[in-house]
Order: sequence, then structure tokens, then C-alpha cells
Amino acid sequence: MSITANDKQYIANTYARFPVELVSGKGAILKDSEGKEYIDLGAGIAVNIFGVADDEWLAAVTNQLSSLTHTSNLYFTEPCSTLAKMLCERTGMKKAFFGNSGAEANECAIKVARRYAFDKYGDESHSTIITLKNSFHGRTIATLTATGQDGYHTHFGPFVEGFVYAEANNAESVRKLAEENNCVAIMMELVQGEGGVCKLDKEFVDEVKKIAEEKDMLIIIDEVQTGNGRTGTLYTFQQYDLMPDIVTTAKGIGGGLPIGVAMLGEKVENVLIPGSHGTTFGGNPVCCAGACNILSRIDDELLSEVRAKSAYIFEEFEGAKGVKSVSGLGLMIGIETEKDAKEIVNACLQKGVLVLTAKTKIRLLPPLNIGWDELKKAVAILKEIIAE
Ligand SMILES: Cc1ncc(COP(=O)(O)O)c(C=O)c1O
Repeated sequence: MSITANDKQYIANTYARFPVELVSGKGAILKDSEGKEYIDLGAGIAVNIFGVADDEWLAAVTNQLSSLTHTSNLYFTEPCSTLAKMLCERTGMKKAFFGNSGAEANECAIKVARRYAFDKYGDESHSTIITLKNSFHGRTIATLTATGQDGYHTHFGPFVEGFVYAEANNAESVRKLAEENNCVAIMMELVQGEGGVCKLDKEFVDEVKKIAEEKDMLIIIDEVQTGNGRTGTLYTFQQYDLMPDIVTTAKGIGGGLPIGVAMLGEKVENVLIPGSHGTTFGGNPVCCAGACNILSRIDDELLSEVRAKSAYIFEEFEGAKGVKSVSGLGLMIGIETEKDAKEIVNACLQKGVLVLTAKTKIRLLPPLNIGWDELKKAVAILKEIIAE
């Protein structure tokens, strides 16, 4: 039975897959079961920062795999403690909680915020969290509820209480909700990924900071997609003159293995106590050893390369034939096209380039270290298809 037939028969039908069976890869090049090669401008949706089967990451992971794979969270292990130290030192955050996905990192952030309010007020009166319309925060029941898109708030009810939705880039809308509700936090992506690669304005974030200060609301920044060098700094909040209370991340930090992190700032660093939260695989030594390697390589040189490649992509597409607009930051780029985005994705696939969509846009999330030759070749193909 072919991979496709097997998949269709035995895997829950939650994904509309493209007709490609990927079997191997190296860096930004992927190969299918018929030997056809593709230049990858999606990186497994912002996961494979250094592409597929990256040698250094592979060495870190396999070394750890052969010494200690899993222990449970009942004992101390080196990789997760090192990773937590690296993350805190490079972000100014104070503590990390490790889970296995972005949704889980956001669940942790939601729990920390609510527990912070409970400890402060002695009850659940101040548990409301503001999120932004058009956001995406995950697929568990709580993170689906946090996601500010009506389309996600159906079929799976009852959803959880305590989320209200403000307009992105509209500080008045945040202020109004903060005044009408007893809010403990505001949670937002600085560039809304699934929502169409829409960047928040600096002025809006500055206003949110003021409102949060006035109302004693925590600021939770969801860097699941924007984090780990993707936008040209280690984390995107570092470009916004902002010190969040909680930062969540996942995807890229794992380099291909599942890991999610909620980083906790000074106000909330001691909110979690033994027994208040946990997960079996969180802090897994293999995932953490890989993540330590990834994090150690997101340095100034790589970040300036990200910014240079970003500038190149923006220059190529802004004003190009068939392009309405280009949005995003760093190597997280949305291209609004005259042609239907899905048609473009399929045509790219035929020509050996993998691209993504976000709402009605083409979305590019290439490996951060994609070679210039590969990038230029893929951009030329995409540009031609958009212009046709
Ligand atoms: C901003 C953001 N938050 C949360 C998530 C959920 O992450 P995961 O799929 O790892 O649970 C995603 C996934 O796309 C995301 O883009």
C-alpha cells in the first residue's frame, strides 16, 4: 500500500494534504518518494530553522539519545536546566516551564496568569484575558477559545469562559475591554501568523504597555511562530521595547523535535508551585539537547543574515507583477496576490518549491540558513508564477 493510501485509510482526516510523499531532505531541500526535489520555503511551518537533518543539531540529539532519552520530571537532568538558563539569560525572563507544543506553552501561560490573579485577589474574580481578533493561539479547548477568530469557536463547545477579544492595532478597543472586565492579562502575537502575517504597530504595543501598567494586567507574548530568530531578533518582543511578563514559544526552538516553553518574568516567576502544573514529556532531555544547540546558533551573524534575506524578499516582491502587498517581519513574510493563493501553492509544488498560505496570502517561512542560491531560485519561480 502506498504512503498516501495508508494515510487516507488510517489517519484521522484533519489535514488536507498536498499530493506529495516527502521521504528525506537536507537543509532547505526536500525529496519526495519519486526522487523529485523541492526548495522548502515553509520549514515545516517555522520549525526547521536550520533545515532538515542539520548535522550539528543531529549530533546533539543523537548524543543525548544514546546517553539519556527520558527520565520523567522527578529527577534533575542537564539539558533542560542548561536550556532554561540560556533562555533566561538571553531574554531577561526568570524561569522556564517546558511542554511539548505551542498550545501547551500557551495553556501554561493562561494558567500562570489566572493563578497569579487568584493568589492576588483570593478568588477567581480577575481571571479575564484579553486576546486579539485574528490571532491564533492553539487547538486545545482553552487556546482555541483564546484564538480571536469566530471560525474556531464552533463545533467543540462548551468553550472556556474568561476571554474577550480586542481589535489588533486599536488601543481604544483594548482600553474599553480592560475597563469593562476584571482582566488579568493581555495575550498577543506581535506578528499574527495564521491570521495573515499581520504585524502589530509599535504605537499600539506602546499603548497596550501603558494600559497594562494602569490596570495591572500581565503581558503575555505568544512567540510560538515569531520566536527563535524568525523575525530578525532572537524574540520579536526585543524589537518592541517591551519586557513581557510571560513569553511562550515552540516550533523553531525544537529544530524538528516537539518542545514548547513558557518563559516567566519577575512578577510571575514563583506562581507555579509543585503540583500546580506538569507534563510527562516536558523538558525531555533529547528535545532539550537539540534546542540548546539551536539556541546557541541563533547568534548575531545568523540574525543579520535573516534581516538581509528578508530585505531581499521584500525588494523582490514589493511592487512586482501580480503582487498587491507584502507584510511581515524578518523571514516571516506574507504576500497578498491578485491570483488565488492556493493556485499559486499548487503551481509552486509542480515547479519544486514549497510555500504556505495564511488566510488569503502566500506565506514564506524558510529555514533561516537557507542558501542564497536556493533562495534566489525559489523566489524567481514564485515570482514568475505570481505574475503569470
Ligand atoms: C502563534 C501560535 N501560537 C500557538 C500555536 C500552536 O502551536 P502548536 O501547533 O505547536 O500547538 C501556533 C501554531 O501554528 C501559532 O502559530
